[in-house]
Amino acid sequence: MVPDIDQLRLVTCGSVDDGKSTLLGRLLFETHQIYEDQLAALERDSRVSGTTGGGLDLALLTDGLAAEREQGITIDVAYRFVTTAHRRLVIADSPGHEQYTRNMVTAASTADVAVLLIDARHGVLTQTRRHRLITHLLGVEHVVLAVNKMDLVEWSKDRFSEIVRDYEAFSDGLDGRSTTAIPMSALLGDNVVAGSEHLNWYDGPTLLEHLDGIDASARSGTGLRLPVQTVLRPDSGFRGYAGRVVSGSIEAGANVRILPSGVTTTVDRIVVMGADGADVDLASANAGDSVTVCLATEVDCSRGDVITSADDPAEVADQFQIDVVWMHESPMLPGRPYLARIGTSTVGATLSSPRWRVDVNSGEHLAADTLELNDIGVCNLSLDRAVPFDPYSENRGTGSLIIVDRYTGDTVGAGMIRYALRRSSNIHWQATTVDAEAREVLMGHRSAVVWFTGLSGSGKSTIANEVERRLHARGVHTFLLDGDNVRHGLNRDLGFTDADRVENIRRIVEVASLMADAGLVVLTSFISPFRAERELARDRIGDRFIEVHVDVPLAVAEERDPKGLYAKARAGDLANFTGIDSPYEAPEEPNLVIDTSALTIEQAADAVLAVLDRRLAGA
Ligand code: ADX
Repeated sequence: MVPDIDQLRLVTCGSVDDGKSTLLGRLLFETHQIYEDQLAALERDSRVSGTTGGGLDLALLTDGLAAEREQGITIDVAYRFVTTAHRRLVIADSPGHEQYTRNMVTAASTADVAVLLIDARHGVLTQTRRHRLITHLLGVEHVVLAVNKMDLVEWSKDRFSEIVRDYEAFSDGLDGRSTTAIPMSALLGDNVVAGSEHLNWYDGPTLLEHLDGIDASARSGTGLRLPVQTVLRPDSGFRGYAGRVVSGSIEAGANVRILPSGVTTTVDRIVVMGADGADVDLASANAGDSVTVCLATEVDCSRGDVITSADDPAEVADQFQIDVVWMHESPMLPGRPYLARIGTSTVGATLSSPRWRVDVNSGEHLAADTLELNDIGVCNLSLDRAVPFDPYSENRGTGSLIIVDRYTGDTVGAGMIRYALRRSSNIHWQATTVDAEAREVLMGHRSAVVWFTGLSGSGKSTIANEVERRLHARGVHTFLLDGDNVRHGLNRDLGFTDADRVENIRRIVEVASLMADAGLVVLTSFISPFRAERELARDRIGDRFIEVHVDVPLAVAEERDPKGLYAKARAGDLANFTGIDSPYEAPEEPNLVIDTSALTIEQAADAVLAVLDRRLAGA
């Protein structure tokens, strides 16, 4: 296969005033990667909005975004390409402000080198620490301290040494990375591409020379990792597993292990599509190559599985400690069912409360209940099934994951696996002889969970109570779990923040599920305002689950106000009240909708029992 031209991926970290855009512009300009027309436009723009007194303002060259130009700040991750004599530089240019942490994380996650810009006048700042911390967390192997604006400190060697000392003082704990400090002036062109007459006390490489010399070939410490994207079966004679090699290499004839099953086999063929569309067999393929692999024996291997070296396989687990970067406006909710995408697998996932949150400016660990946009912390991650992985420090490809909202599909967080939690393999499900079905037989009826959801004052508890009364009279074994009651005991520790409501419902789902396993018909009456947790209930409880939306207009519930709480909420004496300043997400496909402003309690109970009886009859 034709080898890719050597690429080096960079992330540049710095703020508006550090001269980041000027540095990038200088790199492009001096490597002659600016077209004539761009140069003409640049000269024109420099006169109009330049900051260099009418001279060529190279910062304008890379300020691609109009908003950025107007506001004078860089607001997204933009990728730029610089071709040198030796390789191609892929430069991710992300803003350096704290409110753009997630952009920087995205940029750093694939970078080989981080260029930390420092204004020589200001030296090492809080933001330098933050940039160091993030690039370290994201496993960026090489760091360049670009000490810029040396012209404004009279090219002082002492100043440069002082900055390097300051940097070393705080990066002590961030071991194992190679750091190179280079004094420069991006504006005047010293030590970016060409050397510098002013800095004759410095005998190291220019920035470009240094970047050209970095060896980024040994990026991953693990053997073969090939997550299977698709299983190809064009005809019965061919079965191929297609995917991209994340790390290591694969050879025809090599022994491989399929994870999570652990089965071993050998590689029969490695195939790619040739220029004419016909299959071409390869002897081997390397990290970055997309290939189709045929195996010598028929094994169970599907999308999400990972083909690994037989003697250096990945690990398999379902519980982890991970570093999390929260990337969404709505905060992380411990216990909420999210999805995790790891490799080519998508798995149900929940996060624990953060073990700690990191102060990104000092590195300190802080206590936290949740993570908000741009927060970085450490959490336990629990997956619905075990997946192959490597610790992030050993393999960025198989050690990273993203957290996705189940309903919107938004990426809400990024995770880097530290290690698997030991309990993941030490806790087993104990099979019992008397099972749910056996208990149902003894009860004389099936079990079910009737889940009432709706606004406070909608009538959930009243209807649930009437349904239970009638069932009980018929000899059905029941239990009613009611929001207000449960909050006196089991959930006494919970309030009404989003996070507490999620935990409230998570516990109720578990309790209701156990009670249904015990053979009872369970009725639950909770506002349960969030779709995600009600879906968790449906997933956990399965076809015994009946969702009843007690749907009255807010105005009607407020008018009833049986506990006087709406009045309090309106007066501002009760915060986070559902329907007032806390959302209610109505069910999209409930099994039953009841409008208690139109039905009597008896009629409502009739409607619920009609659905429930069909379920109890096994329909
Ligand atoms: S849930 O949102 O977590 O499902 P739950 O059903 O347990 O709520 O509790 C709701 C009951 O708590 C309401 O019927 C009301 O009596 C009481 N309550 C007290 N404060 C609030 C509040 N801020 N929002 C909603 N209900 C509240």
